[in-house]
Amino acid sequence: MKKTAVAHTNIALIKYWGKRDEKLILPANSSLSLTLDQFYTKTTVEWRTDLDADRFVLDGEELQDAKVTRFMEIIRKQFATQQYASIVSENHVPTAAGLASSASAFAALSAAATAALGYDLSNEELSKLARQGSGSASRSIYGDFAIWEKGALADGSDSFAHPLHSNLTKEIAMVVAVVSDKKKKVSSRVGMKSTVETSPFFTAWIERSAVDLEDMKRALSAGDFVKVGEIAERNAMRMHATTLGAEPPFTYFQPLSLEIMDIVREMRHNGIPAYFTMDAGPNVKVICLRKDEQQIQTRLKEIISQVYICHAGEGVKVVNEDE
Ligand code: DP6
Repeated sequence: MKKTAVAHTNIALIKYWGKRDEKLILPANSSLSLTLDQFYTKTTVEWRTDLDADRFVLDGEELQDAKVTRFMEIIRKQFATQQYASIVSENHVPTAAGLASSASAFAALSAAATAALGYDLSNEELSKLARQGSGSASRSIYGDFAIWEKGALADGSDSFAHPLHSNLTKEIAMVVAVVSDKKKKVSSRVGMKSTVETSPFFTAWIERSAVDLEDMKRALSAGDFVKVGEIAERNAMRMHATTLGAEPPFTYFQPLSLEIMDIVREMRHNGIPAYFTMDAGPNVKVICLRKDEQQIQTRLKEIISQVYICHAGEGVKVVNEDE
């Protein structure tokens, strides 16, 4: 059977940074994200008896991708099939924006691959499965805000994401400034491993991120945007601080990232509530209210050409082939 699924990327307001189990992709801390409406992956999976290996085509190009191969093995084992699959994926991100995300990729692949096997998995099951492809994919199963609980069990059965309601969903926006479209030098997987193994700041990060998460949950349920922004910004900076303590030290900041942070601070000083967050790359995401998004985009376009306005997006869904 052949099925297609669409999943959107998500940006963490409380970051996932560090694993307690690398094989099962179990995190050392819980994280919280907003799914975005602008960037998504559409993936079609067809299980076939005539293949002797999986075939993976991304944006029209046939690729060998170790993460995808490994993930398909997990699916074959879990769902007891010996068949291989044809996987055809399209990343819907602005051309060369450097925003292609493993979160939307593995969320879409999980939904398409299991639907094509005839399963109708719950979001909880899909989240657990997607997590094993890439941790952040566990959150892209849901639209709007989602929390990925780290869980405590060794088999990972309690480590999955769930949605979180907030009345800020309709008001919040993210203005994404593309600093570089080059492939990152240190992937999130390699960066977090090195941090866990060598950074003396990692223990403090884990302690503080638990506090940040509780504060963030309260701020979201109270609909307190300023608090949400403040907590997200400090959490991101704490995550990035761990990388400077690693051996060898590394950073995802580039001069232009720092310049954008300064502009965000300056806008804040002038009365616009805007905050920044960054992931394992130099791009800066500005967290703001929809009413200010145009003004922020215009200001950032003075120094950077690719600036995109995003709102809360939808969770993963299986779609008709011709959609
Ligand atoms: C900085 O989910 O890409 O974006 O589980 O190794 O595939 P793996 O890592 P990944 O890491 C995301 C890290 C982050 C923060 C976040 O999204 O929470």
